Amino acid sequence: MKLTVIGCGYLGATHAACMAELGHEVLGMDCDMDKVAILNSGKAPFHERDLDDLLAKHTASGRLRFTPSYAEAAAFAELHFIGVGTPQQPGEMAYDLTHLFSAVRQLAPRLHKPAVVAVKSTVPVGTAPRIRDLLHSYAPVGDAVEVAWNPEFLRESFAVEDTLTPDRLVLGFDAEHSWAETVLRQCFEQIIEAGTPTIVTDWATAELAKASANAFLATKISFINAMAEVCEASGADVGQLADILGHDARIGRRGMRPGLGFGGGCLPKDLRGFMARAGELGVDQALTILREVDAINSRRRERVVDLAREQCDGDLTGKRITVWGAAFKPDTDDIRDSPALAVAHKLHELGATVTVTDPKALDNARKLHPELDYVDDPIAAVQDADLLLHLTEWAQFSRIDPARLAARAASLKVIDGRGTLTPDIWREACWTFRALGRP
Ligand code: UGA
Repeated sequence: MKLTVIGCGYLGATHAACMAELGHEVLGMDCDMDKVAILNSGKAPFHERDLDDLLAKHTASGRLRFTPSYAEAAAFAELHFIGVGTPQQPGEMAYDLTHLFSAVRQLAPRLHKPAVVAVKSTVPVGTAPRIRDLLHSYAPVGDAVEVAWNPEFLRESFAVEDTLTPDRLVLGFDAEHSWAETVLRQCFEQIIEAGTPTIVTDWATAELAKASANAFLATKISFINAMAEVCEASGADVGQLADILGHDARIGRRGMRPGLGFGGGCLPKDLRGFMARAGELGVDQALTILREVDAINSRRRERVVDLAREQCDGDLTGKRITVWGAAFKPDTDDIRDSPALAVAHKLHELGATVTVTDPKALDNARKLHPELDYVDDPIAAVQDADLLLHLTEWAQFSRIDPARLAARAASLKVIDGRGTLTPDIWREACWTFRALGRP
């Protein structure tokens, strides 16, 4: 099939490359000319496992191309996916839908033949009819444009795998759809035939599927982090507690790693956007729990700052602190709402000199936080440090031998904010080892 993907960020670029991998002829569209040029050269403008390989393969095979032109996109295919970003509005809880509505307004007047517009962006429930109305009023073909809702559940750093072999496929349509379901089933034929659970539903349920999935994932993380608070007060070990709980198949260990909590471009803003929408719908009480989930998550960051202050004898002024980690999670260069950088910035505000290292995210971190110091090598970064904080659990950090660091650090104190360092190895190398939720 021929199809377009409008908006080529983490979601859209991955979707475009994966659709080409499924055999489709794909045109990705993004108004950022630099991004388009990088993608057309067969590379991703960000770090995502396996994506460069797919982009190189399919820009070379001719099945994948990128353009900054809406006119070209509109003329290229009958199926258009929209995957533009829907960030949080500055100073508000709600989503900023400007990019989404703008994409629809730009695409619609150029639709001269019947088309299916399948939206993947995360939105407040009730957005689909607004998109339909815009398309029908702006498109020359009017109501010959059908809207489908196809939420995306991919995780960054597993984006290619999650797109090609998703846990489930959700397709939302309105009652009058006649053609959209056929088109989308054809598009996802290989995924459906591989036995992927496929749920065909209405627009509202498809929109809510995404909001509620992310709300649940965030709740699971904050639940175990609330247990970490209780562990800290009672001398219990939250890592072992999570293992014990996780053996109950109804609970499950996945997505329940205790530590510094969640960040990124999705869970935090989806939680807040979902609460804002529930308020508009008059059902805010149903989501009061999410306020607590958000508060527990913020407290983890404060707890690390408190522990750091404690380890620096109550005063951070002039202390040299090394932070391992800048990305919001390992294997990405994404620093949106990064817990590690939030802590690093706070420590700087409190008077510490903070040196940050990260295998992939330093360029992005430098732009957002010029007040921090940056060093590429995690071992060199520890030079003269009064305290080391492990805040993003890159595998390479946990492989470093703490004995090698001992000669460089000014003081052998470490706080593990992610629970993936092995305390015994650090203690044997004479480090004072503290971890969230662990004795
Ligand atoms: C999340 C969801 O997991 C995806 O299903 C969803 O599609 C995506 O948001 C989205 O809305 O686009 P992502 O933000 O890539 O994916 O990252 P996660 O792997 O869920 O991690 C989110 C944050 O939670 C990270 O900061 C991570 O360190 C933290 N986390 C995750 C924990 O603290 N504990 C865990 O057990 C899992």
